[in-house]
Amino acid sequence: MTSYKQFEVIKKVFESKDVVSLYMKPVNSPDLPVFRPGQHLMFKFHIPGQEIPAFRYYSFSDHYNNGYYRISVKKERILDQGVVRAGLCSSYIFDIVKEGDYLEAKGPAGEFYINAEEMHPLVLIAGGIGITPLLSMLKTIAKVNPQREVYFFYGVNQQDEHSFLEELSQLKKTPANFNIYTFYNHVLPGCIEGLHYDYTGFITVEKMFALLSDIHMDYYICGPAAMMQSITGALEKAGVSALNIHTESFSTIAGVPEQNNRESSEWIIEFTKSGKKLLWDQRYRSILEFAEANDIDISSGCLFGDCGTCLTKLQQGEIKYIHPTMVQPGKDNCLPCSCVPSSHLVLDA
Ligand SMILES: Cc1cc2nc3c(=O)[nH]c(=O)nc-3n(C[C@H](O)[C@H](O)[C@H](O)COP(=O)(O)OP(=O)(O)OC[C@H]3O[C@@H](n4cnc5c(N)ncnc54)[C@H](O)[C@@H]3O)c2cc1C
Ligand code: FES
Repeated sequence: MTSYKQFEVIKKVFESKDVVSLYMKPVNSPDLPVFRPGQHLMFKFHIPGQEIPAFRYYSFSDHYNNGYYRISVKKERILDQGVVRAGLCSSYIFDIVKEGDYLEAKGPAGEFYINAEEMHPLVLIAGGIGITPLLSMLKTIAKVNPQREVYFFYGVNQQDEHSFLEELSQLKKTPANFNIYTFYNHVLPGCIEGLHYDYTGFITVEKMFALLSDIHMDYYICGPAAMMQSITGALEKAGVSALNIHTESFSTIAGVPEQNNRESSEWIIEFTKSGKKLLWDQRYRSILEFAEANDIDISSGCLFGDCGTCLTKLQQGEIKYIHPTMVQPGKDNCLPCSCVPSSHLVLDA
């Protein structure tokens, strides 16, 4: 992967009650690496008051252009021991970062992307902030291949959480083969059907199938875990091949996982590929973030044990998972995104 680069925030736009977009251009470089629609950047934040950097992914929310990158971030609220607190990095972006500030990011990266030039019909299904990679896909197709048949389903809780209303309205008007539908979970007074939303309730496979010309299309889904699971399950049950269903998880869960990595700071981690031996720093959430902070590159996808991208050979030692993971790595491997050391370690990284 590439190394971290500095970006200047050239524009900050509030998209809804909790979502803000940052437009960023690179410092000291005229060119922006091309990304594929659906990919993301890894950010390294130096947040005032935090002793260590924090690492988070944010997806591109626009099509590629050589002038700027755009990301769109939802200010997360997390239930932590009965108290609601604001997400560390998302609230920093939402409340503190301003135009003219500099941020560090590397990438583009990620396997959740489309080839916009293909003609195979597409169904893009977004829940809440999960819209970002899918909007990038839709806008890219509008630019390079507008005759492609695309169905875009966007689930929004209620109107004040509805981001990109104007952008989607414009896309509806373009002479493209697009079918764009917005679902509101709650309809607030003053909301107009056909203008703000098209349907009420959750997006379901039954409602989608009633609108598609054929069910055998490529499906790309990004949204809350429960939504992705129920739609994926129902699609497969209806006969859609698992090979045609692609999902991206943003991995934000409602509470802080139980974490017990404060027992010892004396563990040494040897990263054999990088030739580094480092004293574990218990302030990091995971071995992956610790490695990232020490310029050791471990490929990653979800940062939450869901995708297996970070799977690394555990050559020696014991690790402890900080939350349950979907991928089960076996005893000779580990998922550095989701574990901390519980002894000295030797890792093939
Ligand atoms: C591939 C990818 C793309 C993404 N794209 C976007 C995007 O376009 N827009 C967007 O808004 N978000 C996106 N996200 C989510 C984003 O990266 C952040 O996770 C989100 O903004 C919350 O970060 P935070 O620092 O505000 O919250 P945090 O303070 O990190 O809390 C967020 C979550 O982390 C968990 N957590 C908290 N503390 C710990 C801990 N000590 N150890 C482990 N877990 C902990 C909590 O359960 C909580 O649910 C993406 C994520 C991924 C993986
Ligand atoms: S990054 Fe996805 S499992 Fe570790």
